[in-house]
Amino acid sequence: MIATVTLNPMLDKTIDVKKIAKGTIHRADGMSMVAGGKGINVSRQLRKLGVDSLATGFLGGETGAIVRRLLDEEGITHDFVDTNALTREGLTFREQDGTSTAVFEPSLRTDANCAEELKNKLRVLSRKSSWFVCSGSSPGNEVDGLFREVLGIAQQAGVMGVLDSYGRAFEAGLTACPSLVKPNKHEFEQTFGVRIETEPEFLEALNHLLGKGIQYCIISNGPLPCYAALRGHYWRVIPPKIPTVNAIGSGDAMIAGILYGFSQGWKFQRSLTFGIAAGAANASTWKVASSSLQEIAALEQEVAIQRIG
Ligand SMILES: Nc1ncnc2c1ncn2[C@@H]1O[C@H](COP(=O)(O)OP(=O)(O)OP(=O)(O)O)[C@@H](O)[C@H]1O
Ligand SMILES: [Mg+2]
Repeated sequence: MIATVTLNPMLDKTIDVKKIAKGTIHRADGMSMVAGGKGINVSRQLRKLGVDSLATGFLGGETGAIVRRLLDEEGITHDFVDTNALTREGLTFREQDGTSTAVFEPSLRTDANCAEELKNKLRVLSRKSSWFVCSGSSPGNEVDGLFREVLGIAQQAGVMGVLDSYGRAFEAGLTACPSLVKPNKHEFEQTFGVRIETEPEFLEALNHLLGKGIQYCIISNGPLPCYAALRGHYWRVIPPKIPTVNAIGSGDAMIAGILYGFSQGWKFQRSLTFGIAAGAANASTWKVASSSLQEIAALEQEVAIQRIG
């Protein structure tokens, strides 16, 4: 079983309007809601691929209750800690010409008891989990160290850890030596205050992560080449060219794809290739982290993976 941890989920609403005109009232043509959050996306894609997973983290208030209901409706197994902090909403206004504009509400403060409850839940889950996936942002400074603690629980129990985050939560999480990390280029730059543009700079960035004791290091960059390293071996992976519809969640779909590969007993290179295809499949549709095995397998043939060291 793969447990995904989302500390900062969102009730993700998409509102269809003809055209946005600043300073006016709009009557929407339609509205849809989905349970949003990076770890939730990983669980969603894993379910599509037939891999057993459970989504956990924090949910609170009426919006949290709606997210739980939406997860139930989708058949995503979940067990979130109930917090007193109302789960945030995100509004995406989608115009007829395809332009989208989003506003995410701020996150509310989570109290320390909830963090303890989450850790206890994960201690129990660690007995039947192969991986813990820590994905996404931290809702506030008070829980910036929580991914580190969760990854520490994983390590103690012999569970592999994934960390896909940025900023202080990412830096702190790295000290707990997760097995796999996948920031995107921008997140790596933002966290470490550097620019990475050239191939040698990507390799230097990977070396920085390897130097922290991380086994599988990946830095993605949307449609541009992704770089990865494992114990002194380096890869350049060129994603398939697809008409991009909505790239949000591509990194999450990619992580699910890699874990799917590992669950099949594939080695890193093949799992990474499949993960890249899963990211591209996600970017080719509006729905997030919901591609089928067949759709991903078709794109897998078009991934170019090259050893560079
Ligand atoms: N427009 C695209 N065309 C082809 N492949 C894409 C595209 N966008 C993303 N991908 C694939 O998905 C992978 C992950 O994408 P990206 O680097 O955008 O992740 P991310 O920024 O972490 O996404 P998110 O956090 O929204 O899940 C890329 O390495 C690539 O394989
Ligand atoms: Mg990401």
